[in-house]
Amino acid sequence: MALSPSLAGQPRVFLENTLIMIREGLRPIAAMKGLLDGVGDAEIVALADHYSRLPARAEAGPRDEAAWRRGEALASRNLCGTCHLPSYAGQQQMPRLAGQRQDYLAQSMREFRDNRTQGRDTQMNGVLRGYSDRDIDDLAHYFAQLR
Ligand code: HEC
Repeated sequence: MALSPSLAGQPRVFLENTLIMIREGLRPIAAMKGLLDGVGDAEIVALADHYSRLPARAEAGPRDEAAWRRGEALASRNLCGTCHLPSYAGQQQMPRLAGQRQDYLAQSMREFRDNRTQGRDTQMNGVLRGYSDRDIDDLAHYFAQLR
């Protein structure tokens, strides 16, 4: 489904935190509304463990070389890998960006930039301040292409 993130290979802690925020209604996502009602903590832990063990599988389309190179330069210049790891596989509460769906990444980054996020870790606050739509689209293209 458009704008749905891939969960496979996401860090377990990130998945657990996110599932709990969604269940508690603190991170509102229309498509997820009510789906986790009554799901217990043990089941959340099991779900997170399950998805974190699945191999991440990139579904990116063809690479746009120019956009990819701009995205790579922006990511390395701005040290995104200090938290998300140099491979962008994510760790702990930092999500995997490598191989994530491009439309979802771009939407998330616009929400962070425009301070429209709710119930998300505040470490991304301010990180994308001043980024243009093109910067965000190039970053999303770059991450989505990584394996
Ligand atoms: C200080 C640590 C830190 C740095 C530096 C950082 N991030 Fe993040 N990022 C996070 C955390 C923590 C989250 C999880 C937010 C949440 O969903 O609760 C996140 C989430 C994201 C997401 C959402 C992905 C998803 O699956 O929901 C994107 C996209 C992202 N970061 C891109 C970037 C980019 C691009 C940079 C560099 C310009 C960057 N981040 C730098 C910590 C960081």
